[in-house]
Amino acid sequence: MSTFQAPKGVSEYVPPRSAAFLAARDAFAAAAAGAGYSYLELPVFEDTQLFARGVGESTDVVTKEMYTFLDKGDRSITLRPEITAGALRAVLEHNLHRGALPVKVWAVGPVFRYEQPQSGRYRQFYQVDLEALGAEDPAIDAEMIALAWDYYQGLGLRQVVLKLNTLGDAECRPAYRAALQAFLRGLDLDAETRARVEINPLRVLDDKRPEVKAQLGGAPLITDHLCAACKAHYDKVRELLADLSIPWTDDPRLVRGLDYYTRTLFEFDHPLLGAQSGIGGGGRYDGLSETIGGPALPGIGFGLGLDRIVLAMEAEHVPAVAGASVKVYGVALGDTAAREIFRLVTALRRAGVPADQGFGGRSMKAGMKGADRSGAEWALILGERDLAAGTVQLKELATGAQTEIQLSDVIEVLKGKYA
Ligand code: HAM
Repeated sequence: MSTFQAPKGVSEYVPPRSAAFLAARDAFAAAAAGAGYSYLELPVFEDTQLFARGVGESTDVVTKEMYTFLDKGDRSITLRPEITAGALRAVLEHNLHRGALPVKVWAVGPVFRYEQPQSGRYRQFYQVDLEALGAEDPAIDAEMIALAWDYYQGLGLRQVVLKLNTLGDAECRPAYRAALQAFLRGLDLDAETRARVEINPLRVLDDKRPEVKAQLGGAPLITDHLCAACKAHYDKVRELLADLSIPWTDDPRLVRGLDYYTRTLFEFDHPLLGAQSGIGGGGRYDGLSETIGGPALPGIGFGLGLDRIVLAMEAEHVPAVAGASVKVYGVALGDTAAREIFRLVTALRRAGVPADQGFGGRSMKAGMKGADRSGAEWALILGERDLAAGTVQLKELATGAQTEIQLSDVIEVLKGKYA
């Protein structure tokens, strides 16, 4: 170990765990592209006000968890605590919403929140994020939920639980909020929670402390206060999910930690992950565009936590589908043979055969150890005597069976197996 360690609470991936991370990320890229979502590459820092206004001044994320600093030009900058606000900012800035609607986009990358680190909760973590802008159709809500569901299933996760709720809209939520506040004001709560009742009463429903939970039994539920349009929207989303045989639980107390949500709200949980079981979540945010100074533009999206997805894959013992791992490993004895192996390994790669080799002019034994460690299926062994005869030894590592082939045939033979 050097003098340095990674900063507290960051997640990072080194082999062999990095293979699962990459598999999870790449599978999402394929799923998003396969459903017509285009890629966004976004900055990891933005104007602080974008998040203050977009995510919401009353959220923990904004009040307690942002990495905010002044840059050398005295601008207040914040490392993104989520991707949605920046994605919408980019869509509006580049006028994508003036083209065909909905605008369907996705992004991936690091996200920063100053939280108390624990297993599955980090200060730098990774999200894949999917957003659709400009459509109020409940079918887009269902498409998105189905895409996430099928993505988890495709990774091999079998224990994912989907929870659904709706938060109503500008028409029905104010009356519900007032009814909830009236109920909460009658409870025995500490000062901080009482303050929350006045600013963001829905968050109190989400309080996990037993002494608070015990008092919430009779709380009014949003689902009993929906206006006709919101009820119809929610019913349609559930009807479409049922058509796709996607199982869910209605959770009328589901509230998420960001202020921008309206109507459909959903969360994916993994029961084997303990306290940090949320492996993804999202919802509609029909007013967010206006909140950040844009035109009226309905939207819906989700963010999935890649770190927790990797933990879930490990908990369910899902093998990470390895990408293009090495198939052939070159071992040379002597300088001239090393030069030829070096040329051959590159030629194999150019022919589409994943290949690697030993470095450092080591012994035969060290070279074969390297071949075993590489996970390759074949060792290509070249000594001075082979070289003189214009041949090379091809050894199948699983069985130990070795055949001699002409040097001039090597590429064709291996290409036939892999390329
Ligand atoms: P979020 O629920 O705050 O939503 O985060 C989404 C996911 O990121 C969570 O379900 C979890 O898997 C992961 N996550 C959150 N915090 C941490 C952490 N400290 N360490 C590790 N993983 C974490 C959003 O961020 C919204 N922007 C989602 C969205 C997109 N809504 C609409 N569009």
